[in-house]
Amino acid sequence: MTQLSDDFDCPAAVAEGAYWLPFSANRRMKANPAPRIIARAKGPFYYTEAGEELFDTLSGLWCTPLGHGHPRIVEALKTQAETLDYCTAFQVTNPVTVRLAGRIAERAPQGLNHVFFANSGSESVDTALKIALGYHRLRGEGNRFRMIGREKGYHGVGFGGMSVGGIVPNRKMFASGMIPGVDHMRHTHDPAHMAFSRGQPTWGADRADDLERLVALHDASTIAAVIVEPMQGSSGVIVPPVGYLQRLREICTRHGILLIFDEVITGFGRMGANFAAERFGVTPDMIVFAKAITNGVVPMGGVIVSDEIYNTFMAGPPNAIEFCHGYTYSGHPLAAAVAHAVLDVMEEDAVLERVRALEPVLEEAVHALRGLNLVADIRNIGLAAAIDVAPVDGAPGARGLSIFEKGLESGLLLRCTGDTIAFGPPFISTPEQIHAMVDGVRRLIQAID
Ligand SMILES: Cc1ncc(COP(=O)(O)O)c(C=O)c1O
Repeated sequence: MTQLSDDFDCPAAVAEGAYWLPFSANRRMKANPAPRIIARAKGPFYYTEAGEELFDTLSGLWCTPLGHGHPRIVEALKTQAETLDYCTAFQVTNPVTVRLAGRIAERAPQGLNHVFFANSGSESVDTALKIALGYHRLRGEGNRFRMIGREKGYHGVGFGGMSVGGIVPNRKMFASGMIPGVDHMRHTHDPAHMAFSRGQPTWGADRADDLERLVALHDASTIAAVIVEPMQGSSGVIVPPVGYLQRLREICTRHGILLIFDEVITGFGRMGANFAAERFGVTPDMIVFAKAITNGVVPMGGVIVSDEIYNTFMAGPPNAIEFCHGYTYSGHPLAAAVAHAVLDVMEEDAVLERVRALEPVLEEAVHALRGLNLVADIRNIGLAAAIDVAPVDGAPGARGLSIFEKGLESGLLLRCTGDTIAFGPPFISTPEQIHAMVDGVRRLIQAID
């Protein structure tokens, strides 16, 4: 590592606190940093400074499904850095990014043919919300300003995404900064009716009628858009009930409300399809994507919009800037080159088929944990699953943290939020690796019982 002197003591530096980690228990980490310092990664594994191998059970943060250090991606990055390392996206462009927009649109549902690039899920969500406001205003319906999100939803950490999001700890500290006019539908997870469902629960489609209730309360003429994750990832793989997304679509269409799918986790393969929209057979007006498009190697996100939305913006004086929004790094050529490599690998290695073949392997493996004393619920769809562990009385999250920390000692980098363990293994995982991952978690749960 050329950037570091040989005597750099990373655990000591972490303990000093110059680096403030995001979404982390910083003081807990500073008390014992060594097991959490990752030095390198290859394929589905991370390696700590001490050389311990950790299976990457969540593909990074759902973002590295093709594994680490993929030679095609490394090559694309090097070549692009030598050819065009940066190019502004304001009033000029470059062939790599232009072609990428086309390739993404080719994979999107019919009618969604235009891509606006950002650099993260959060930026992409806020971009989609702004597009929704602009669209209605351009059509003379500028009074449509409300955004409808959903409880337990995660749409990143920008002010817009935070406001439409529904995870309480992410909201309460910043309550005074919420954007105005946001309301939420109920989430669809009700263990009394759907615990231990395999794939889509059959109960719960009528939770979509919450939207009708909000339309009755606010009047459709004030509502711009509804944003949902087709599968709620960050709050623990909450799978849409059969018919739920279809019903949301119908209600939105009936009332002229835009439907936005936040596919930051589900986009580009996690559901065994290019997008969850395809898997669940529902076409939204916009798809937000990020993460897997670049295999997490260079940040990139974006919004795919319908012809109707794009064409609405493309009216007005021909020399005018149609959408006063964008980022210094929108459509960054390094990210775009990596994204091309990702799409190439996905095609050439038939990655979607591989995900579909692994889905039943993961399903069987996780549901085999049903019956363990502390296991309260298990859910799965595509190559995603979650296990809820019963919380300690008066100390929610304590068991999850304990499982996470013990995982580090037994070869697993786990994603535990509260007492939920989420799995999103790399698409390149073997069935044996998936079984080993779940068996490891079985032992961890048994050990804390
Ligand atoms: C559905 C969804 N939307 C948005 C985001 C925010 O993405 P980022 O962390 O890249 O800003 C995430 C991140 O996990 C996500 O899962």
